[in-house]
Order: sequence, then C-alpha cells, then structure tokens
Amino acid sequence: AEAALGDGPLKGRCAIVTSGPTHEPIDPVRYIANRSSGAQGTAIARALMSLGADVTFVTGPASHPVPSGVNVVPVQTASEMLAAVEDALPADVAIFAAAVADWHVANAGDSKIKKDGKGLPSIELAENPDILAIVSQLKKNRPELVIGFAAETDDVIENATSKRKRKACDWILANDVSPETGIMGGSENAVTLIHNSGADVWPRMTKDQVATRLAHAIVDHLGATE
Ligand code: CTP
Ligand code: CA
Repeated sequence: AEAALGDGPLKGRCAIVTSGPTHEPIDPVRYIANRSSGAQGTAIARALMSLGADVTFVTGPASHPVPSGVNVVPVQTASEMLAAVEDALPADVAIFAAAVADWHVANAGDSKIKKDGKGLPSIELAENPDILAIVSQLKKNRPELVIGFAAETDDVIENATSKRKRKACDWILANDVSPETGIMGGSENAVTLIHNSGADVWPRMTKDQVATRLAHAIVDHLGATE
C-alpha cells in the first residue's frame, strides 16, 4: 500500500520545484518561449511528495498535467516565476527544472502588432532574472539544498560544471538535449549529477526514475525526518 500523504523521510520538509517553459509576451497574442513539456519537473514534484515533502510547484504553461497533492502556482513569465518562488520561501530544498526564457520583450505592448505595410516590427529583448542564481546567492532564507538543471547540446559536463560554479547552486543535473538524443519531449532522460566534489553519471532511465533517484539523493543529503 502507498504511504499516507505526508508520511516518509521528507515529512515536514518544504520543497519548491519550478517546471515547464515561461511565456514572454510580444503583444497580447504572441510570445517567446522555450521547449519544455514539464514532464521532468512534474515527476520530481511527485517523487518528493511521495516521500512526505510539502511541495510548492511553480509552473509555466506546460502541456504535461500538473501533479495532484502539491501546491500548484501557475505563472506565465520569468519575473512571475521569480516572485512565486520568493513567496514560497523558506524551503529546505529548491529544484529548478523550468526552462526559463532567457529574455523578455522590452517593448511588448498592449496592442496587437499589425502587418501595416510599413516594414517588419522590431523586437527589443532584455535579460530575465536568473531565478536559480538569485536563490542560490540569497543571504537570508537560502534553501539548504539548491539544485539546477543544465540542458546542453555541446561540451555538456564542462558547461554544466562552470554553470554550477557561476550560479552558486549545490547540485546541477546536466543533460544532453541534442536532437539525436530524443530527450526533449521524450519520456527518458540521461543526467550527470554535478556537485562540488565531482560528478556522478546516471544511466539513461525514465524521467520518473530520474525523479525518484534525485528524491532519494535529497533524503540522503538532508537526512530523514522520520
Ligand atoms: N534558470 C533560472 N532562471 C533563468 C534561467 C535559468 O532559474 N532566467 C535555471 C534553469 O531552471 C536551470 C538552470 O538555471 O535549472 C540552467 O538553465 P540554463 O538555461 O541551462 O542556463 P543559463 O544560465 O540560462 O545559460 P544558457 O541558456 O546560456 O546555457
Ligand atoms: Ca537559458
């Protein structure tokens, strides 16, 4: 039988999981986004919940159904995602599985851009806040364990290792999302867990299995509460 809700080694622990893409409006009908189904983030939220954690799931507009039994906070943009994460603090662990758009449209307007025959519109981009880096570098309320993802297409381990240092998170799950891996949009993932003293290569497995293994690594790090 399944454990009763709230029982398990993460009982009493608070977790924040970001998931899905963000949508950055260009005008009321158009947006910029990243590819993300939300499958890995959803699986992580579910795995933490099933070990007893109290999970806040901050999700952009993803195609994957949201997990039940977690506190779902739907957002559209990166800046809304940051605000929702800040509202959910303090937490023991935060996992940043969202594919956050790196830029928003600085000159987004309230009116639909029309093909008015006067040439092409120009879109001005401005950088979005880096939610993972901000939370990793908090002086107050920094979660004990901050975990990011690094989806890369080239020099995966090298890029992910420098990303972990630059952002100052504790762990990064690096994965190769080159089209030939079939990972984007698929049900499997192949990750390497990078921490401050090395890297553990995990075999290719389902996204649910990655989530379960990560949840157990979190228990090992934080210690079981029961
Ligand atoms: N991330 C975030 N906020 C952002 C951008 C990224 O929280 N504005 C998080 C992602 O959720 C992920 C990690 O940072 O956990 C790495 O995201 P990635 O896009 O790989 O890193 P970037 O720093 O944006 O670098 P680049 O896209 O140039 O590789
Ligand atoms: Ca990025």
